[in-house]
Amino acid sequence: QKPGASGARGLRFSPVAPNKDDKVTVPDGYAQNVVIRWGEPILRGAPAFDPDKQTAKAQAGQFGYNNDFLSLLPLRGERGRQVMVANHEYTDEILMFRGYDPANPTREQVEIAWAAHGLSVVVVQEEHRTGKLGPVNRHPLNRRLTATSEFRMTGPAAGSTLLRTSADRTGRKVLGTLNNCAGGTTPWGTTLHGEENFNQYFANGTTAMHKRYGIGTGATERKWERFDRRFDLAKEPNEANRFGWVVELDPYEPDSTPRKRTALGRFKHEAAQPRLTSDGRPVVYMGDDEKFDYLYKFVSSKRMKKGNSRAAREHNLTLLDEGTLYVAKLTGDSPVNEIDGTGKLPNDGEFDGSGVWIPLATGTTSHVPGMTAEEVYVYTRLAGDKVGATKMDRPEDVEPSPRTGRVYVALTNNSDRGKEGKPGADEANPRNANKHGQILELAENWDDPTSDGFAWRLFLVAGDPDDPATYFAGFPKSSVSPISCPDNVAFDAHGNLWISTDGNALGSHDGLFGVATHGDRRGELKQFLTVPTGAETCGPVIQDRRVLVAVQHPGEIDGASVEKPASVWPDGPGRIVRPSVVAVWRKDGRDIGV
Ligand code: FEO
Ligand code: CA
Ligand code: CA
Ligand code: CA
Repeated sequence: QKPGASGARGLRFSPVAPNKDDKVTVPDGYAQNVVIRWGEPILRGAPAFDPDKQTAKAQAGQFGYNNDFLSLLPLRGERGRQVMVANHEYTDEILMFRGYDPANPTREQVEIAWAAHGLSVVVVQEEHRTGKLGPVNRHPLNRRLTATSEFRMTGPAAGSTLLRTSADRTGRKVLGTLNNCAGGTTPWGTTLHGEENFNQYFANGTTAMHKRYGIGTGATERKWERFDRRFDLAKEPNEANRFGWVVELDPYEPDSTPRKRTALGRFKHEAAQPRLTSDGRPVVYMGDDEKFDYLYKFVSSKRMKKGNSRAAREHNLTLLDEGTLYVAKLTGDSPVNEIDGTGKLPNDGEFDGSGVWIPLATGTTSHVPGMTAEEVYVYTRLAGDKVGATKMDRPEDVEPSPRTGRVYVALTNNSDRGKEGKPGADEANPRNANKHGQILELAENWDDPTSDGFAWRLFLVAGDPDDPATYFAGFPKSSVSPISCPDNVAFDAHGNLWISTDGNALGSHDGLFGVATHGDRRGELKQFLTVPTGAETCGPVIQDRRVLVAVQHPGEIDGASVEKPASVWPDGPGRIVRPSVVAVWRKDGRDIGV
């Protein structure tokens, strides 16, 4: 018996079957539209998209490439409108430019790529009585931030000698944000954006720390170092230290300078989602998406001020500058010999245990022997290595449940687990050569997010439910959807967890899934949609009447190009493939899944 149309409240839809169709497939009774595509003009003066007449100037006023994280924020006083914020993680030049020569990119192509990175703020308008959304071009809040926009470093490491370059002797003013993957939305109305695989933009790494962060010793594939010396670390060794941060943006202040928050540490930030303590301090959970890297949290020492006054807003923009950064160490409760690397459940019937949050730094005080606080913030991975943090299977998005406070960590996969010379399986990462990933559920002691200890268990061990090495919170596996490589996670108003995937190792396309986290349907996982060929599903936002997803890198298949496309989504044959945002709603106008 496969999953049916019944389900927990919010998940009552007929699941979409796994498939390899070059389109977005949604459940029966649901409709969809493309909200905005790469290249659509959003700023005053930006031209309509023309794939054969791309310029950097045009792109700087158009929606960027490879949309990932999405946030929808309220817009008071403008009926039917919301503010959408999107990340543009990276560019795929071979799918953007006709006749692209990877060995010899032109200056114009490189500058278009700079302008296609970063963030977009775009006001969206809903169609009366449907969930359909479209962009409001030239709205005064619309904004583009790119690889050349100005950002400010703030917090305890701002101004550090480790952040100074020949172009910026202050160590506080950075040009650009790069590789913004997932993110978060704060209770004080700003958005957070994780700078993830920034290593790929920097050539000629020279130091051990360049290496620890994955920066190569030679030229880069993109060859930006030919066009701006700051991407050449042989010339500008500290420039890479100015990337790998969490960025905070105030989308309601189009002239504000976004901040890179050094107190949250520097690593391949996947995302950052705050939860408030009972006395109003934000706690931000964060993953470092690398094989064998770590899970972190930041606990602010300052309370959020309520209300929308200027004083409150200015105060709240300092919350992420003061506090303590921690890294997680997890211990299983089953005998080590019962964790055999195959995913077989231990005799107590669960992969579970306890954990501690190890403090790394508080303000300008380091808690790591042999490292200054500035070093802890800039070389956070090294701090985690020194204190013996648990090496995880690629921590991606982390989301606290607004209902229960439990924290869900997507661990996407780890092909190197158990390989010669690499760490083997442990109770939190129980499969060697882990192809499908798992989702960890963490409960802070006394439900206090500032606690220094927690309990944890694996909520899902992903894969084909017919595979004995899978687990769906104990729910009967005969009636759940297969899932592989969980990446982004979000909650709906019912407390269901929604999971989008990247890199489905079961052979069908990536998609979006919903699963109940409490009640007698806990673990009943159902697929809500699938995405086109080569695409990853990103940014899910689950509103009462609408699901929003970012379809990232459609057509990204080895050997594909503009001339030889692997996908013709969203506009059909003869048109260039375009990463786009999609809205899904119920044709009968009722709420999603009720
Ligand atoms: Fe950009 Fe870890 O995904
Ligand atoms: Ca156990
Ligand atoms: Ca991701
Ligand atoms: Ca990913």
